[in-house]
Amino acid sequence: MKILVTGGAGYIGSHTLIELLEAGYEPVVIDDYSNSEPSSLERVREIAGGIWEIIEGDVCDYDTVKDIFDRHEVGAVIHFAGFKAVGESVEKPLMYYRNNLGATMNLIRVMNEAGVGRMIFSSSATVYGMNNQVPFDETMPVSCTNPYGRTKLMSEQILKDAAAADGNFRPVILRYFNPAGAHTSGLIGENPRGIPNNLMPYIQQVASGRREKLTVYGNDYDTPDGTGVRDYIHVVDLAKGHLKALEWSLESCGEGGEVFNLGTGRGTSVLQLLTAFERVNEVPVPYVIGSRRAGDIATCYADASKAEKVLGWKAEKNIEDMCRDAWRWETNKARWETNRGVQR
Ligand code: WQD
Repeated sequence: MKILVTGGAGYIGSHTLIELLEAGYEPVVIDDYSNSEPSSLERVREIAGGIWEIIEGDVCDYDTVKDIFDRHEVGAVIHFAGFKAVGESVEKPLMYYRNNLGATMNLIRVMNEAGVGRMIFSSSATVYGMNNQVPFDETMPVSCTNPYGRTKLMSEQILKDAAAADGNFRPVILRYFNPAGAHTSGLIGENPRGIPNNLMPYIQQVASGRREKLTVYGNDYDTPDGTGVRDYIHVVDLAKGHLKALEWSLESCGEGGEVFNLGTGRGTSVLQLLTAFERVNEVPVPYVIGSRRAGDIATCYADASKAEKVLGWKAEKNIEDMCRDAWRWETNKARWETNRGVQR
């Protein structure tokens, strides 16, 4: 079966491609490379092989997406493509709304015209906002404090409304907690452009010497060591969660618009992650304590029981695996960039 994967060259998309290929699916990838590199798809091919088409294009463009459905018998869609930087979304809200909502709505339109009813949508735990008590579960009220998070919230609502209007359209919504780590081959991983927004890639770049030190955004939170607590989930576990969601969607999939948390159910603080990274990889990660980052909450981790019960999925890898695999990728990437004379 052919699966259209939007944003397939990205961090989570590329890892999901490997799970799809190893499970016997044939992906069709569309990516505009606005936050990814074509080389990551070459390395997906190196890891998992297969003959599959890659389209460089904009998911917001009707003709581009329609052409894919005209040429391929798409069985389902996994929709990753979207801008995802919280800070940038505050500076450029319209760019985020136009791109993220436009892509989702265009996909639904073409899918409805083609009679394709199964979509796995990439959402985020950020939709749980600032007012819920941990662990977050799928029944909790949702709210967002930034345009990026609101595009996820609005996309979820658009999908649910489209499902209510068309019984054949049965999307599944996955709320990711904090993805981290890399494929054990060390050939693909997170490769943010510019200064990393997220903790783990920033730690990786400090450890590799690309950045001088980490600034810990506050150590006065109501947490065991005062630093922010998050539910870090290995990107390979996350990718496997997409495969389980796809299989459930194709077999039964409920009423459409079903939401699942993809997290481990365990919280780790900034300093706990940093210390684990140093210990596992025997590399120092210098840091300073800075002020809190606007919009951050103290503690965020999942109630992941619904995905386990309904999808038969549970995260298996731990923080040490994430640190080890992230470092293997980072050191490989540093070596390739040096060999290519890339300014790091
Ligand atoms: C984690 C912790 C920071 C960087 C965001 C988005 C979410 C999802 C994942 C897309 C926090 C601290 C971070 C640094 C630090 N993205 N930190 N120094 O904010 O939980 O979630 O990324 O889907 O939607 O909201 O992740 O990695 O930015 O921060 O101290 O240089 O690390 O304060 O406690 P976050 P993060």
